[in-house]
Amino acid sequence: MLTNLTIVLITLLVTYTVLTRTALRIQRARKAKQMGATLPPRVNNGILGWYGLWLVIQNARSMKLPHTLGKRFANGPTWLTPVAGNEPINTIDPENVKAILATQFKDFCLGIRHRALSPSIGDGIFTLDGEGWTHSRALLRPQFSRQQISRVHSLERLMQILFKLIRKENGEYFDLQNLFFMFTLDSATEFLYGASVDTLADLLGEPVEGDHGGVGEEVRKAYQQSINNAQDISAIRTRLQGLYWIAGNIYQRNLYQKSNKGVKDFSQFFVDKALNTSKEKLKEMEDSDNYVFLYELVKSTRNPVVIRDQLINILVAGRDTTASLLSFTFYTLGRRPDVLKKLRAAILEDFGTSPDEITFESLKRCDYLRYVLNEVLRLYPSVPINARSATRDTTLPRGGGPDGKQPVFVYKGQMVAYCVYWMHRDKKYWGEDALEFNPDRWDPKVQPQNKGWEYLPFNGGPRICLGQQFALTEAGYVVTRMLQEFDTVHCKNQKEEEHPPYALDLTMRHGEGVWVSMK
Ligand code: HEM
Repeated sequence: MLTNLTIVLITLLVTYTVLTRTALRIQRARKAKQMGATLPPRVNNGILGWYGLWLVIQNARSMKLPHTLGKRFANGPTWLTPVAGNEPINTIDPENVKAILATQFKDFCLGIRHRALSPSIGDGIFTLDGEGWTHSRALLRPQFSRQQISRVHSLERLMQILFKLIRKENGEYFDLQNLFFMFTLDSATEFLYGASVDTLADLLGEPVEGDHGGVGEEVRKAYQQSINNAQDISAIRTRLQGLYWIAGNIYQRNLYQKSNKGVKDFSQFFVDKALNTSKEKLKEMEDSDNYVFLYELVKSTRNPVVIRDQLINILVAGRDTTASLLSFTFYTLGRRPDVLKKLRAAILEDFGTSPDEITFESLKRCDYLRYVLNEVLRLYPSVPINARSATRDTTLPRGGGPDGKQPVFVYKGQMVAYCVYWMHRDKKYWGEDALEFNPDRWDPKVQPQNKGWEYLPFNGGPRICLGQQFALTEAGYVVTRMLQEFDTVHCKNQKEEEHPPYALDLTMRHGEGVWVSMK
């Protein structure tokens, strides 16, 4: 039974919460008016938004995020909803997204990202704001020049291992998505450190040439597990927003610490090795065809922690995103024989059946391949929901007033989430067939190509993805080689589904894997 004192305390607490929240709302409405804006429309989410948090968790568990958000965007492109005490604004209005990412860049920052991710990936381009980010971007940008990213043939060794693994399946169904996540981990470590962590080779059980760059077997194996575990827990921390500390500090604390160490040990080994490499050897490497990101970076900074963290940041930014693009490409090709046939014909015409003709330039010239990749990224963007937080009281250009066309107020610290997934599926910009997979929409002869901020798979503004060209080149190479090698791709799941089940963490992948048969 509740004592009288408890009842009084609860009543006082509820009254205090209601009064302070009402006062805040009045204060914000006043501030909004001063700034020529209004508060955004409000979508209820239960008392203080706790139902909203439960809904987010339930939807994520049942693999229905981000597609269930569509119902809410049906009422308007910009709205606010309380979630567990916070009041994030959600938007799919390209004008607002442009403001957040470009025209009002300084009004927004990454919010809790640094706190959520830095124990795992440290201080780097992906986690920092302000000066730290400016410095990171200046340091890393030159490494993504065309010359550095155009060396596609370094992928061929891994392709051969992938082919062997697929052939071992003898035309039975297998999860290609799983192999792509391993492939991109192997290729990213090779590109960044000069030595692949070789998860695919281990799976195949065949010895690889060389010694994995000299790294100890224990460190290499630990890394293979650690990177996935660290990313899984980091994803939970990001999703929990202000409560990020629960995951990794209380829940799965030991695993998080062990995994973070596993990732750092592997990276540190290669950083130390590079820092101990003589100038002559570095020059020799520069003249060879074997570009290694790390060895270029040590020419610009000798700080081992900076180098280590930046490399981990790039790996996290580039690995899952590229694997997601490849997986959804084959998910689609395996369900759309018409697209597969047309793409194979384009590939065979442009490149024949060997890897020799595949270059950075020739991949860019293969129009239909480009259309297919663009269309996969439209319907299945690797980063379907993203967010920023306001660094000061500010406004967004649209979403307020009775017609939704007036500016809306954003208070300092408020989160604004932008849902690329639904922006990419909005009939207003993509027409009645917005939910259909139609690569031809990217053909200028079919439709004028005047895409603006409504197409944003790689983000936009000063923080636009640094690896965009690199990713499209890698994905183009892998798709081309796969279709040169295999005649049939058949997806086990042929059900009509506008929204497949999604596993959503920092990026999005198919929730049940991409089960295909290839011959
Ligand atoms: C299909 C593949 C890829 C997609 C869809 C993609 C998408 C994105 C997106 C949406 C962002 C913005 C994140 C944010 O600011 O919140 C981003 C940032 C970034 N991406 Fe990518 N990415 C891909 C591949 C890559 C690859 C392969 C690399 C590197 C090898 C890379 C490096 C980066 C970096 C360094 C940033 C941070 C840029 C900054 O904050 O200044 N990405 N990417």
